[in-house]
Amino acid sequence: MVPSVNVVDHPLVLHKLTLMRRKDTSTASFRALLSEISMLLAYEATRDMKLREEIIETPISEMKGYAIDGKKVVLIAILRAGLGILDGMLALMPSARVGHVGLYRDPKTLEPVEYFFKVPQQLEDRSVLVCDPMLATGNSAVAAVTRIKQANPASIKLLCLLTCPEGIKTFHAAHPDVPIVTAAIDERLNDHGYIVPGLGDAGDRLFGTK
Ligand code: URA
Repeated sequence: MVPSVNVVDHPLVLHKLTLMRRKDTSTASFRALLSEISMLLAYEATRDMKLREEIIETPISEMKGYAIDGKKVVLIAILRAGLGILDGMLALMPSARVGHVGLYRDPKTLEPVEYFFKVPQQLEDRSVLVCDPMLATGNSAVAAVTRIKQANPASIKLLCLLTCPEGIKTFHAAHPDVPIVTAAIDERLNDHGYIVPGLGDAGDRLFGTK
């Protein structure tokens, strides 16, 4: 299996991402831009959704139309910055189900520890899109996807805004079967686990914390 990384480098995405990266961009703009980019990422991430044919009637005639087949998609946000991706995704997929995974890094072991896990039941027939804006070290995304896989979903993709070679390597070493959809692959990770040049702490910028 060749691990897949889909970089959605559409001009609208790159323009909005550059606005988000600027250090003087306000919390309100950052939030709105993340939501807008999330819609564009969702558009690409759902490109392979299965369709079923439906015969419908327009005001003029009968025709063969299409509808998304299967059960509702499940969006799973990795807390807390993943919450910023939900709005945009739900604007495009208002009936999607939503789950949340909370992890913190143990200060001694530096390993992710789960403190919250609530996802819709019966994931077996559902496609899951895991949302985490920054795939940096990759450790929390690896842990979240490992946990989600225990529920045996029909498929999983990881949606992030930004990543770096280190994050992709770590994530795909653990989950080569999970495609990554991202707006950009930055240069590297610094010693503090931040993406360079990146955009800083996505959670702080989204919620106006420090
Ligand atoms: N998380 C963030 O919010 N930013 C980074 O650069 C890395 C991880």
